[in-house]
Amino acid sequence: MNDTEITLRVFEPRDSEKVIDFFTRLSENTIRNYTRFGFPLDIDSVKKHLSWVTESGSEMEKIFIAIVGDKVVGLGHLTFFQKTWKKHVCTLGIVIEDGWQGKGIGKSIMNYMISFAKQKGIKKVWLSVYADNLRARQLYEKMGFVVEGIFINEEIFGGVARHVISMALFLDETYKPDKTTG
Ligand SMILES: CC(C)(COP(=O)(O)OP(=O)(O)OC[C@H]1O[C@@H](n2cnc3c(N)ncnc32)[C@H](O)[C@@H]1OP(=O)(O)O)[C@@H](O)C(=O)NCCC(=O)NCCS
Repeated sequence: MNDTEITLRVFEPRDSEKVIDFFTRLSENTIRNYTRFGFPLDIDSVKKHLSWVTESGSEMEKIFIAIVGDKVVGLGHLTFFQKTWKKHVCTLGIVIEDGWQGKGIGKSIMNYMISFAKQKGIKKVWLSVYADNLRARQLYEKMGFVVEGIFINEEIFGGVARHVISMALFLDETYKPDKTTG
């Protein structure tokens, strides 16, 4: 990534305006791929969501940002389940600004989020990805995520149906797919 300095850290309330600016810069294609586990993207909803994350004391969701200069160029989020029987699982979403894609930032944020999840005692990180989003699928496979299942024609955009793949990273030997019978 040359010598561009990238800072990765957990979102704080003071970052709200920069995160909103980040979302307004995303192309339609990036948004089209992000919508699956992403935030609702109209500006009012992003504002409400960021306030909710702040007010909830970040117990239910953690947002991670990549910063270059004074701009947010990438963002990831982990959402935690509260029910006792699902507390070992969290969901993951990620989006990088168009001009910064393909430069290793996605991989860095993923590593950062996975370390955070491990430290929190999470045993399974779950995500879903459109089947036609090959870039994201490659990234997830490289990080060790495996396919759990495929939802056929799960979502329809402008008359075009898209399949959705459910993928998971198992952080604890005990819960790896080949070790359990369900
Ligand atoms: C998918 C996304 C998060 C990946 O982040 P990124 O910063 O672009 O990816 P990285 O540069 O860290 O690359 C990680 C891996 O992704 C894959 N990748 C990156 N660019 C790629 C490209 N143009 N084509 C295919 N695979 C590509 C490679 O496997 C790469 O690993 P490598 O560098 O060892 O070859 C990012 O491109 C993005 O935000 N896309 C739009 C929104 C989206 O799809 N979000 C995910 C929703 S599930």
